[in-house]
Amino acid sequence: NNLTFNYSHALIQEHELEEMQAQIQAAHNLLHQKIGAGSDFTGWVEYPHTYDKEEYIRVQKAAEKIKKDSEVLVVIGIGGSYLGARAVIESLSHSFSHLIPQKNRQGVSVFFAGNNISGSYLKDLLDLIQEKDFSINVISKSGTTTEPAIAFRIFKDLLEKKYGKEGAKERIYVTTDKEKGALRKLCEKEGYESFVIPNGLGGRYSVLSAVGLLPIAAAGIDTDKLLDGARDAVKEYQDADVKKNPCYQYAAIRNILNRKGKELEIFVSYEPCFNYFAEWWKQLFGESEGKDGKGIFPASASFSTDLHSLGQIIQDGKNNKFETVVWVKEPNKDVEIIHDKENSDGLNFISGKTLNYVNKMAFQGTLLAHVDGNVPNLIIEIPKLDEYYMGKMIYFFEKACGISGYILGVNPFNQPGVEAYKKNMYALLGKPGFEELQSQLKERIKK
Ligand code: PA5
Repeated sequence: NNLTFNYSHALIQEHELEEMQAQIQAAHNLLHQKIGAGSDFTGWVEYPHTYDKEEYIRVQKAAEKIKKDSEVLVVIGIGGSYLGARAVIESLSHSFSHLIPQKNRQGVSVFFAGNNISGSYLKDLLDLIQEKDFSINVISKSGTTTEPAIAFRIFKDLLEKKYGKEGAKERIYVTTDKEKGALRKLCEKEGYESFVIPNGLGGRYSVLSAVGLLPIAAAGIDTDKLLDGARDAVKEYQDADVKKNPCYQYAAIRNILNRKGKELEIFVSYEPCFNYFAEWWKQLFGESEGKDGKGIFPASASFSTDLHSLGQIIQDGKNNKFETVVWVKEPNKDVEIIHDKENSDGLNFISGKTLNYVNKMAFQGTLLAHVDGNVPNLIIEIPKLDEYYMGKMIYFFEKACGISGYILGVNPFNQPGVEAYKKNMYALLGKPGFEELQSQLKERIKK
């Protein structure tokens, strides 16, 4: 009864994995001895044990206060500053949680802003919440990222108009760097409640810090159990022997498959509530490995939905991909297929069975079909979908990603490529200091 990793459909031979041991050992040493590229950003490895306990209590208190005085929490952040929280909240909440009356739910409704620059999206959210009691949690390590900074300016203004400057202060929670950046300065000036994004945690490895924990706790999810799962994962995935460590097996096999021409990895699940977990996973691997002309392109699919769209290209398209399937053994809820006297749809052969049983047959059938189509399948199974296994799975993927990046020979903890679009956008918007680039870009756009 634990998270398991099954590579019996990976289309590799056992000796290939064994031959990765030296590389696994080297990557393990780089990560654990903190001597690899980007080692300043490996604080997440021990974080489920070393986190600031006093701050954790403040996070819980803030979540309780939000639940008492607000119906909605607007979480403002982008990339690693929002994806983890959204992944956990959507995975562990009712599928239609926003429509559930507050009296019947454990926490507040959490909406996300500052993760795009769409005026329509922002206007819709502003219209939706202005009649409701709400708080905001702005999350930005640098404190200067454009998307959340714009959204924060607008929501702060709305809060101040609604509750006055003093009232608004009680409803603004800031998660940012301990010392640096515009948001930290603002906290000091205004006295907002604030939490720290520790130095050793890059955005995409920060979900188990206040970055993820405040929104997750405000949504009514048990963060103690989430951390329990992560702590057990620290222990379970620390053996450098690839034969004994499922997390390292996953990292090694991704690299084996990549060297055999598999350029695309598809994260697959059969539960729609995992859609944002897939987004978090895509950022984790994409930003960590996609550099220096290397990296597996992380894609995702939700089955059986996408078997009716992407299924064709996975089965019969270019032979350059593999799938990583997350399967939940015992889903929390189920529905039985009723018997129909008429049987006009011909479905009585499955009457009395449940949706989850049919889903499982879809999973097994798809697995074999895709393997027959030369698509290796890696399977991660969890006994059930709860806080504990969510915490464990988060750590499993984070550690696999760090190890996998080191095997690939990249720095898994930086993201230099993210800057290129930002510079161009600043220049085109006329940010002071970008005048020369602005005229060059305007010339190019005219063509
Ligand atoms: O993983 C990362 O480091 C990035 O995705 C950042 O989280 C993202 O760019 C947001 O940055 P910031 O928290 O500084 O606003």
